[in-house]
Amino acid sequence: MTIELRPVTDENFVEWRKAVRHGFGMQVHPDDIARLRNDRAEIDRLIAAVDTSSERIVATGGADSYSLTLPGGATVPMAGVAYMTTSVTHRRQGAFSGMMAQIHDDARERGDIISGLWASQSHLYGRFDYGLAINSCDWEIDPGFGAFSHSPLSADDESDAHVYFVDADEAAAILPGIYEQMHLQTAGSVDRNTGRWRYELFDEERVRGGASPLFFAICEEAGEQTGYVAYRMRRLGDTDMGTLEVSEQVSVTDTAHAAIWKFLMSFDLVGKITATNRPADDPLWWMLSDPRRLIRKSHDSLWVRLLDIPAALEARTYNADGRLKIGLVSKTQPEVAGTYVLEIDDSQASVKKTTDKPDVIMTPADLATIYLGGIAPGPLVEAGRIDTISTGSLAKLHAMFSTDSAPWCAHYF
Ligand SMILES: CC(C)(COP(=O)(O)OP(=O)(O)OC[C@H]1O[C@@H](n2cnc3c(N)ncnc32)[C@H](O)[C@@H]1OP(=O)(O)O)[C@@H](O)C(=O)NCCC(=O)NCCS
Repeated sequence: MTIELRPVTDENFVEWRKAVRHGFGMQVHPDDIARLRNDRAEIDRLIAAVDTSSERIVATGGADSYSLTLPGGATVPMAGVAYMTTSVTHRRQGAFSGMMAQIHDDARERGDIISGLWASQSHLYGRFDYGLAINSCDWEIDPGFGAFSHSPLSADDESDAHVYFVDADEAAAILPGIYEQMHLQTAGSVDRNTGRWRYELFDEERVRGGASPLFFAICEEAGEQTGYVAYRMRRLGDTDMGTLEVSEQVSVTDTAHAAIWKFLMSFDLVGKITATNRPADDPLWWMLSDPRRLIRKSHDSLWVRLLDIPAALEARTYNADGRLKIGLVSKTQPEVAGTYVLEIDDSQASVKKTTDKPDVIMTPADLATIYLGGIAPGPLVEAGRIDTISTGSLAKLHAMFSTDSAPWCAHYF
C-alpha cells in the first residue's frame, strides 16, 4: 500500500472535509463544508493523503495564513497548521510526518518565518521542533464573589467607561475593529480576516451545545469602542441559577477590561461564570477582593516553530542589550544546528552563525518556547532542556527574552 500526498481541489474538497471531521470523531454537516470552503480554507494550503490502492483520502492536513504579533509589536507571516488527521485505518505509517514536512516546506516558500498550532495532544509536535510558547487559563467563578478590591476604574466609573448590549449584526460590524487593535498590541495574537469573522460568529442552534445564542456587549470610553464580550447563557431548568459562559472577551485598555468584568459579575440569576482561554497574566485575579474564588486551570495554547531562525530572532525586540551565543542541537533539522550569536543593541538583534563556543545550548523547540516571552528559561534549565555553559548565561537569556506582559493568542484554530 502506498500513501501519496496530493493537493486538495474543488473535486475532492467534500471528501477531504469529511475525512477531517471523521479524524476528530465528528460527522460533517453539509453547511460546514460550504462554510469552511467559503470563509476559512485556503485550498492551495491543504493536503490530502490518498491510499493509492483504494484512491480514498486517509489523512488530511493544511494551514491557514495568519499574521502573528511579536514582542515589540512587529507582525510576521505565520502558517497556522490545522486539519491534521490520519484515519484510524492508516495510523503510524508516516502520513502525519509526511504532511508536516510538506506544510513546512510550503510555508517557507511562501515566506512564513513561523508556524504555529494548537495541539490536540501535548506530545505530538515536539518531534517537529514545535515548542509550547503560550499558556492560557480557563476560569470559573461564582459572581457572588466578584467584588473588586482594586480597579483602574474611577469611583464614579460611569464617567470613564460604559458597557452596552448590541445585537449580532452590530457585533459583526464592531468586534473586528476592537480585535484588530488588540491583535496589534498583543504579542502572540493572530489576525482574523473577514471570512474568519463570519466563520467565528456562526451561531446556529447546532453549534450552541444546548446554551443560548450569543449575547454581545461593548465597552465604550470617550466615544471609542475599547472592549467587547461574547457570551452564552446556560440554564438547566427553572431552579438552576444558570451559567454565563464567556466565549471571548477582548479589551484594548485596562478600564475596558475592568468595566466588562464588573458588568459580567453584576447579573442576577447567574450562579457561575466560566471563561476559556484567558491570558496567563490577566489582571482580574489582582482586582478581586477574594481572588482564590477565581478558579484558574492552566493549559497549553499556542505551539510555535521557528521556520527561519535568524529572521525570527531579528523580528522581535529584546528587553536587554548584550551578546549571547545560542547553540542549537536538532535531530530533525540538522541544517539549523549550530551556534547563533545574538548581538542586541537598542532592543534589536542582529543574528549570525558562529563557530565560537555557545553560552547556552538548547533545541529549536526550546528556543521557540522562550521566543514570545511567555515561558521563562529558568525552569527549562532546571528541567534539563537548556544547558548553560558560560557563567551568567541564564540571567542574560532571561533578561533578553523576558517581556512586560505574557503573550496571548485569543484565536483558536
Ligand atoms: C495524531 C495523528 C494525526 C498521527 O497520525 P499518524 O499518521 O499515525 O502519525 P505518523 O505515522 O506520521 O507518526 C509520526 C510520529 O508521531 C507519533 N505519534 C503519532 N500519533 C501519536 C499519538 N497519538 N501518540 C503518540 N505518538 C504518536 C508516531 O509514533 C511517530 O513517532 P516517531 O516519529 O517517533 O516514529 C493521528 O493519530 C490522528 O489523526 N489523531 C486524531 C486527530 C488528532 O489529534 N490530530 C492532531 C490535531 S492537532
